Amino acid sequence: MAWNSPPIFLTDTDQLFKHAQLESVKAWIGDPAHGALSLHARIQRAVRQLILDGALDVGRPLPASRALALSLGVSRDTVETAYSQLHAEGFIERRVGSGSFVSERARRLTRHEGIARQAGATGEIPNLSRRGSAIHQGGGVRDFLAPRPFAPGLPETRNFPLQTWERLERQVLKEHGTHALLHSPPQGMAPLRQAIADHVNLERGAGATPERVLVLTSSQQALTLCATVLLDAGDRIFIEDPVYHGARKAFDAAGLECVPIPLDTDGMRVEQLYDAEPSAKAVFLTPSHQFPSGATLALDRRLAIIDWAYKQQAWIIEDDYDSEFHYAGKPKACVQGLDPHERTVYIGTFTKSLFPGLRIGYMVLPPQLVGPMTVARTLLDGHSAPIPQLTLARFMEGGHFGAHVRTMRAVYAERRNVLARLVSTHLADFLKARVPAGGMQMPCILIRDIPEQEAVEAARRAGIDLLGLSTLYASGNREAGFLMGFAAHAPNELEIAVGKLADVLRALDRR
Ligand SMILES: Cc1ncc(COP(=O)(O)O)c(C=O)c1O
Repeated sequence: MAWNSPPIFLTDTDQLFKHAQLESVKAWIGDPAHGALSLHARIQRAVRQLILDGALDVGRPLPASRALALSLGVSRDTVETAYSQLHAEGFIERRVGSGSFVSERARRLTRHEGIARQAGATGEIPNLSRRGSAIHQGGGVRDFLAPRPFAPGLPETRNFPLQTWERLERQVLKEHGTHALLHSPPQGMAPLRQAIADHVNLERGAGATPERVLVLTSSQQALTLCATVLLDAGDRIFIEDPVYHGARKAFDAAGLECVPIPLDTDGMRVEQLYDAEPSAKAVFLTPSHQFPSGATLALDRRLAIIDWAYKQQAWIIEDDYDSEFHYAGKPKACVQGLDPHERTVYIGTFTKSLFPGLRIGYMVLPPQLVGPMTVARTLLDGHSAPIPQLTLARFMEGGHFGAHVRTMRAVYAERRNVLARLVSTHLADFLKARVPAGGMQMPCILIRDIPEQEAVEAARRAGIDLLGLSTLYASGNREAGFLMGFAAHAPNELEIAVGKLADVLRALDRR
């Protein structure tokens, strides 16, 4: 399909369907998130969205079906079916001999939708608690669901060893039979807790035992548990500035007071923990690969944080979300393994090392927290599904996890280098890449006076996802730019996307 072909409008009427509107129809139908819909349904929904957004006024003529079909590179029948559906829903009128028009009824539909949206925007939804309204207004954690370039934090899944996974899952079902259909213990299945403890002890220098591992659905769940089980609303927590937005939102939702601590190239400026008055009950950190800067927390700072937590009887919340992917030797040992005072909660996830659809994360806890955290998780979701837990345990025991991570480490290291090269070749007028020593995403700093949010939105319309860096800061000291994920796309895909991004930035720069 010729999405990139220039618009071909046959009559004056068709000119009324502006280039921007045609582009937005193309972007909607080309979006992989809508891939499950038939082509005519995608066209129908895209035009309907334009009407609901007020981009097509009442009475506005739509392009003739033949003209739109030509512009989109689809058959006329496809557009006809889309128009018939819009007509059946009342969004358009069809007048014999003069074409299709946005209907008067659409005005009422638009108003309805507008009121609903406004209510969402101002939080005026009845019957929500103050906390519920605040969470709703905060907007949740915006995950990039479709693997579009450069959505940060997404792994490559197209080469996942599915056959091995499937074989191991069959073994689990054969051996456990219908027992695998029952509840898991809330702390997690024993074989998985053992495999996780072995993994973090060997690879991350942790001090874990299976009894201290709590299996969860995600690090996000771990963050919510930490925020509510370890702290009360109104308590202070030190956070990195800039910080991982998922953590910030979990802490805000629990009513904590987030106190931003600035960073330098060695990670959090730990001396400021001692200076802050009043002190905090916890500190949140991503020490092996700071999100989003990529800095590694220096060893003396790790020791200083452990000392601070011990003296304050505070908690260290260590989010070790992607340390499997370190490209220059082994990453530094985790803080948990260095902490003799049992003040550290270690959080890990398989979202990046395996695949996001697995929904398995975990905590390695100080012994005294295992009971309270396990009870609290039963209130959130009871337990994690047994079949994926048992399959994952086998995947780890059998050496498949280690082999997969080794393969992906080489793949991602190459993609990181490719993206760094592409940025310096094609985007050097706009961006400066800070090439990270690990992980799946690269912070790129805007060196031109282009508004970050406008660039993010224009890129999204062009099929590219960027996370704006300045949105991740809690203090006024913001650096504008983008966090660009490189792991989920092959070098040729990265190249095409960089070309599109260059077009987007050039267009914004020329205005
Ligand atoms: C710092 C950090 N922690 C945790 C996660 C998410 O992990 P999970 O899917 O287990 O919540 C992400 C995802 O981007 C992340 O960047």
